[in-house]
Amino acid sequence: MIDLHSHILPGIDDGAKTLEDSIELAKHSVANGVTHMMCTPHIHQGIFDNNVETIELSFTQLVAAVRQNNIALKLAYSCEIRITPDILTWVAHKSLPFIGEWKGKQALLLELPHSHIPPGVENLVRWLLKNNIQPIIPHPERNRDIIADYNRINMLRRIGCIFQVTAGAFIGRFNEQVQTIAERLLSENLIAYVASDMHNLHRRPNDMLACKQALTQIAGSSKAQALVYDIPFEISQNMNWQ
Ligand SMILES: [Fe+2]
Repeated sequence: MIDLHSHILPGIDDGAKTLEDSIELAKHSVANGVTHMMCTPHIHQGIFDNNVETIELSFTQLVAAVRQNNIALKLAYSCEIRITPDILTWVAHKSLPFIGEWKGKQALLLELPHSHIPPGVENLVRWLLKNNIQPIIPHPERNRDIIADYNRINMLRRIGCIFQVTAGAFIGRFNEQVQTIAERLLSENLIAYVASDMHNLHRRPNDMLACKQALTQIAGSSKAQALVYDIPFEISQNMNWQ
């Protein structure tokens, strides 16, 4: 499987704290059927002030350690960026790492706050699309506005967002409401692909294998394969996998 969302890079966000943590997470992901993993640390102003330099430094360390430990996991890096007006500047300076391409546009993992859908998201999304950037919204199933009123997803959809659901949402990693929303998104064909959003071994491990099994049961094996492999492959095929 190709996992396009993870916090495996050591020491730069709320995922892996040390390189040892990262190596454990890499082994655990391989044991769960993942062959390619996109490193997507948070860029969240004032909380995780990452940029291409901090990400690249941490990524280089991880690639070397994965090789040294003979772990069969290919890695590439991008980011998960929290919505902020500064995205306009970063795009202008070409300083945001994308996760690949979606239908000819560069694909950006754009995180909304968990608490709500902020005003201004419409303008930002329209501007991104106009600038040939496809926003991918991770974990809409955990956004409290969408949990309170599922129809809020329609505004995001109408303005051109696509959605990535967390693997664990399908296996009860979060709560029943979250699982219900994930299943509804699936039944309405609104999920572009699923990804682990792995942070640590204990509470937020890599649920891709169990998720694939759940998706196969709900939607059949070809749909499951599309969500964990085919679509992630299409998006990330031109990335510099190492
Ligand atoms: Fe994440």
